[in-house]
Amino acid sequence: MNPYRVGRRVRLKPGREASLARLHPWVYRGALEAVEGASGAVEVLGAGGTRLGVALAGEPGASLALRMVAWGHEEWSRETLHHRLAHASALRRRLPLDAEAFRLVNAEGDGLPGLVIDRYGPWAVIEPFMTAWDDYLSDVVAFLRDAEGVAGVLVRRGQRVEAALGKLPSAPLAVREGPWLLLADLVRGQKTGLFLDQRDNRRRVFELARDCKVLNLFSYSGGFGVAALAGGARRVVNVDASAAALKLARNTWQVNGLAVAEADFVRGDAFHLAPELHAAGERFELVIVDPPAFVSHRSRLAEGLRGYREINRQALRVTSAGALLLTCSCSALVSEQQFAEALLTAALEVGRRLTVLGRWGAGPDHPVSLYCPETRHLKAWLCSVE
Ligand SMILES: C[S@@+](CC[C@H](N)C(=O)[O-])C[C@H]1O[C@@H](n2cnc3c(N)ncnc32)[C@H](O)[C@@H]1O
Repeated sequence: MNPYRVGRRVRLKPGREASLARLHPWVYRGALEAVEGASGAVEVLGAGGTRLGVALAGEPGASLALRMVAWGHEEWSRETLHHRLAHASALRRRLPLDAEAFRLVNAEGDGLPGLVIDRYGPWAVIEPFMTAWDDYLSDVVAFLRDAEGVAGVLVRRGQRVEAALGKLPSAPLAVREGPWLLLADLVRGQKTGLFLDQRDNRRRVFELARDCKVLNLFSYSGGFGVAALAGGARRVVNVDASAAALKLARNTWQVNGLAVAEADFVRGDAFHLAPELHAAGERFELVIVDPPAFVSHRSRLAEGLRGYREINRQALRVTSAGALLLTCSCSALVSEQQFAEALLTAALEVGRRLTVLGRWGAGPDHPVSLYCPETRHLKAWLCSVE
């Protein structure tokens, strides 16, 4: 069966064309006359019957019913897919990434909604966020093999990882990022192996960490910590809830020729450990706060914002006067304003003064569609603390 052949036609309700006219690629169920039973590629029609383009159907019952892959009379074909992949690849080659691991395809940002592909040296990891992509994976794998020259391709669906080309790697892979190495566990790690979105911010930490004692809260495999030590930090204490993440972090120290002191890899809940460090009189000149997304659904916004306020409150208490705080939120549903409010409240509560020195996000290998700003997720703010 040809997966590019448009199956069903779905029609928008009257008055629901405005967002598609602004090239926003998402269509919600409520905007459609009927979408039940639609799967794979569907033709999208306006209420008057005009062709608006082609979309891939989301999971049955999902409120996000369609994601556009072709506009107007543009064709959705193997050539279209190949062209978008090649465009994404050419863009990455133009960027000053200076790293073996980077995001090759960032879904909506590369005109391929719901499809993420990360490169790790000779490997690629595909993460499709809709099952509709399954029908196109053989073409994506062929592109990665023939045009990108990768030796292995993995497909990650939630926690399940399968090899689509080559064999599952038996050990974490060492990939160079600037002057240090990171260990990426492509099979059992979090995300596709590394938090590639923080690469530029790790470089900033490298530039800021000289002579600092650093606390790396929510460290995962220790990427910020390695960057800090490469930049001349005196000491880095990593805190993470996951034993597997800390094992990766210790091994990351070793592949970088750094001495491993057990006391610098602390397993536990950062919400409890930061107050313990405070009570023990520990103070740090650079504190990094990079928690998991606290707001994954709109209904959890208030609770998530309380989480950001509380962890920043605890982080501020262990900063020395004149310290730097790099504080992050990867919740797309939290706005800059809401994040600022959470920081402001935290700072007021502990009686510290915060000045924002930089407001950054993910690097340029995570392009954001101007038409779909909701996909911009990462906030990484550098503040000075008095
Ligand atoms: C966004 S990732 C951190 C990525 C990391 N900064 C990097 O650049 O690779 C969040 C991490 O927080 C850890 N985590 C989740 N809840 C935690 C908690 N309550 N206390 C400590 N760590 C936690 C997860 O295991 C994960 O490694």
